[in-house]
Amino acid sequence: MPQGSVSRRLSRCYTIEDLRTACRRRLPQGPFDYIDGGADEEVTLARNRSAFAEYAFRPHSLADISRIALSTELLGQSIKLPVILSPCGWGRLVDRQGEISAARAAHLSGTLSVLSSVSNSSMEEVADATDGPLWYQIYIWRDRGVVKDLIARARASGYRALCLTVDMAVVGRRERDLKSGIAMMPASPTLRTKLDVACHPRWAWTTFGPPKLRFAATMAKYAPGDPADNDSVAEYVNNQLELSLDWRYLDWMLAEWNGPFAIKGVLRSEDALRAVDAGVSAIFVSNHGGRQLDHLPATIQVLPEIAKAVQGRAEILLDGGIRRGTDVVKALALGARACAIGRPYLYGLAAGGVQGAVRALDILRDEIARALTLLGCPSVRELSEEHVLSIRNP
Ligand code: FNR
Repeated sequence: MPQGSVSRRLSRCYTIEDLRTACRRRLPQGPFDYIDGGADEEVTLARNRSAFAEYAFRPHSLADISRIALSTELLGQSIKLPVILSPCGWGRLVDRQGEISAARAAHLSGTLSVLSSVSNSSMEEVADATDGPLWYQIYIWRDRGVVKDLIARARASGYRALCLTVDMAVVGRRERDLKSGIAMMPASPTLRTKLDVACHPRWAWTTFGPPKLRFAATMAKYAPGDPADNDSVAEYVNNQLELSLDWRYLDWMLAEWNGPFAIKGVLRSEDALRAVDAGVSAIFVSNHGGRQLDHLPATIQVLPEIAKAVQGRAEILLDGGIRRGTDVVKALALGARACAIGRPYLYGLAAGGVQGAVRALDILRDEIARALTLLGCPSVRELSEEHVLSIRNP
């Protein structure tokens, strides 16, 4: 993409919603829906957004807000703003270098990114491409030998924390993807999707041009057969999701990793406590962005209960529906150490590659700083429950 036109396009994006619009213009409908959509009736997806309006701010008058501090520390790593990048698979759908671009954008913005297990670049490629801090996301894979090897690879590549996602025993039913035919692995796009792709030659070249698109590149090493055969890798990965789940798996994985560890997808305080007792260092309150079980509460709705139960024994992260700096400020006031974003940076990558994802973080940074100033709170670390009021009828 010529840099001048990217900069022009991004300069007209003032909000995350503007980046979403730019993403929608550049992607065929099917891939856009894959990113943008949620499971079933998309009730959770919508609730993640609407629930932020259930909290109002209570500003302090005449506070000294001459200096506003956005930086914080997450599992021993300082970050310049309280927002990190959530793990999102299939980065190549939005950018030729997908996860590598995401990691570079995070580094440029002074924060960290979490690499998905089903990324199109391997964990070594991403680690080699950036000096920025990285975490590695892992699922509950059936083959413990594979998990041991993944943990060893993550450690050798310099990943600083492991993030175990626990809300994906099976893949959620994303009906938009069923309709476009890109849900299935192997994908079987409908004629309409194929025609739409043909109308987006630049996107098709970015995604299917060289280097060859690789599904779950990190996992390809373990799949039987040709690691370049995406269908067999996909089949292997799908069969690796473990259904007979048990807290002992967490104990085992914590012992294997023996370092900073986040558990992602926790929505109940007793589960959070159990994980803290087992030794996790961060509770990642998440409903997978409304892409797994539908009819879940919004993450902001369960955050206060979880924060109260955990009592500072682990750091708390929240994702799901963060689109505004005010959302981040509310989550921090209700007990999160930092927030994470998924779709906002994917929209940014689609709109303008690394610069686009940096733009998404810049938008949030400006909005957080303005909200803190108007709230009369000089630092993200000073946010607390007294800055927000729960309101019944938003
Ligand atoms: C995800 N998410 C996700 N989570 C995870 O643990 N591993 C993964 O591979 C993926 N892949 C993925 C792909 C896409 C396209 C999306 C949109 C999301 C969930 C993600 O980490 C995060 O929890 C949500 O995206 C947060 O919600 P928002 O910010 O997108 O509203």
